[in-house]
Amino acid sequence: MANHSSILRVPSTLDLSGALRFAKDIASVPQADEYIIDFSRMGHVEPFPMLLISSEIRKLARREHRPRVGCSNFKQCTYAAHMGFFRSFNLEHGNAPGQARGNENYLPITVFETRDLEREALEQGIEVGSQVESISKRMSAVLCGADTGDMFDTLVYSIREIIRNVVEHSGAERFGICAQHWPKNRRVEVAILDRGIGLRSSLFRNPHIDVSDDKKALNYALMPAVSGRAFKGSRINAKGNWANSGFGLYMTNRICRNGGNFFIASGDTGMLLTKTAGKRYFNCGLDGTAVRMVMDTSALVGLRDALGRYREEGYEIQRKYREIVNIDPSSASLMLSEDFDKSAVDSILLKLRRALG
Ligand SMILES: Nc1ncnc2c1ncn2[C@@H]1O[C@H](COP(=O)(O)OP(=O)(O)OP(=O)(O)O)[C@@H](O)[C@H]1O
Ligand SMILES: [Mg+2]
Repeated sequence: MANHSSILRVPSTLDLSGALRFAKDIASVPQADEYIIDFSRMGHVEPFPMLLISSEIRKLARREHRPRVGCSNFKQCTYAAHMGFFRSFNLEHGNAPGQARGNENYLPITVFETRDLEREALEQGIEVGSQVESISKRMSAVLCGADTGDMFDTLVYSIREIIRNVVEHSGAERFGICAQHWPKNRRVEVAILDRGIGLRSSLFRNPHIDVSDDKKALNYALMPAVSGRAFKGSRINAKGNWANSGFGLYMTNRICRNGGNFFIASGDTGMLLTKTAGKRYFNCGLDGTAVRMVMDTSALVGLRDALGRYREEGYEIQRKYREIVNIDPSSASLMLSEDFDKSAVDSILLKLRRALG
């Protein structure tokens, strides 16, 4: 084994692409006895990059040959320290994960054990979905500073759906969450990360879709009524309050794109969705699934109405998608390069009808 120390320098800009790139660098750094993470250049950092990088550093420290992992020049990173960033990979600096009081519109890095959630649900005689909802309510109340209102309802729903996905589909033993609300900017960011099987493996169970790469899996996961559990011929019992219908990711991304944005990554691809700029892909190397929801809190309206509207549009998209697949099965892939909104589907249908005379 090589007997040396390797330095990893945290870049000055840890925005989405900077964080994904640095996470990939950490994951692929050659074997060494010791790794020093140098924070001297690290500037402003937000929840998603903190959660991702901390998880990657933890993974580095757990490599089979058990390297030493140290940090340098981190004293000025007070916000990250407060959010439990350093302690989450066992560096004795700042708050422990989940320790910051979190009563000022933020949630420090918090790690949940999936098994604990399941046990707590069992003890209370409730379904895991209900237990996830109560956790989501607690976190949303902290972020909002209130436990009623449009923002509270929307956060409860969205956080719940993303955590349910981890518990129901990822197979991960634990997952992390970190979030911040900036009331003055009317912006809230929620990051959730698991190191489970990822979208592609999970959707692979559905024989009706082609998930031969991560990009296709991402696109299918976001389509309304597409699920790795509930599909024609699946043996999963599709009854009860928490039965899967394939709408969770579709709904949450629609909510976020109303002035904010939605990012999801799994395997080698990340996808950022905004209402105005559409879709943008990122290269990454992510075991598991990561989601970042950014919402414009001034654009959040009554959740019931919004969900009702999105659901109707979702069904319409689903119906038209079926029509497209029926006209020409190969054109299903056409859909994957488009955003699944109504106008995109309409224009594909129109083109197909024209092409077919
Ligand atoms: N964290 C995750 N890990 C692995 N697979 C996931 C994860 N999140 C989503 N998926 C996959 O993406 C699919 C679509 O997710 P989505 O939330 O839209 O629907 P669903 O969970 O199947 O149904 P519903 O959300 O309506 O209960 C899931 O069925 C699953 O195959
Ligand atoms: Mg779901």
